[in-house]
Amino acid sequence: MIAWEPKFALGVEVMDRQHQRLIELANELAARMGSAATGDEIAACVRALTDYTARHFWMEERLMADTGYERSGLHGEQHQALLRELERLGEQMLRGAGTRRGMKALGFLRDWVTHHIQLSDRDFAKHLISRGIL
Ligand SMILES: [Fe+2]
Ligand SMILES: [Fe+2]
Repeated sequence: MIAWEPKFALGVEVMDRQHQRLIELANELAARMGSAATGDEIAACVRALTDYTARHFWMEERLMADTGYERSGLHGEQHQALLRELERLGEQMLRGAGTRRGMKALGFLRDWVTHHIQLSDRDFAKHLISRGIL
């Protein structure tokens, strides 16, 4: 489980709200993984998390383009890599639900979510705040 922590807050409401939802979806998936959920239920959770993540990334990338963020190229590449990783992890979790491999995939997911928010998203949020955009 990933607990929302004050250190994740970036001060840009739309980003913070979506990050909280991402963490909620990741936690729902974690809860299903640790229970006797069926493959279909876990697949639905993986799908919900992947879809929401893709929409969230798209929102950030559009905001970057609209506000002339200097590091948008690198940030967008990180998003693409994270989405590919999420798809891979989703498959691993589906195949390995309730196993150590499945739980390991979940651990990777937690690490990148918190790492990306605290470094790359924080840098972008500072850009928005410093320009008085949001
Ligand atoms: Fe983000
Ligand atoms: Fe991001």
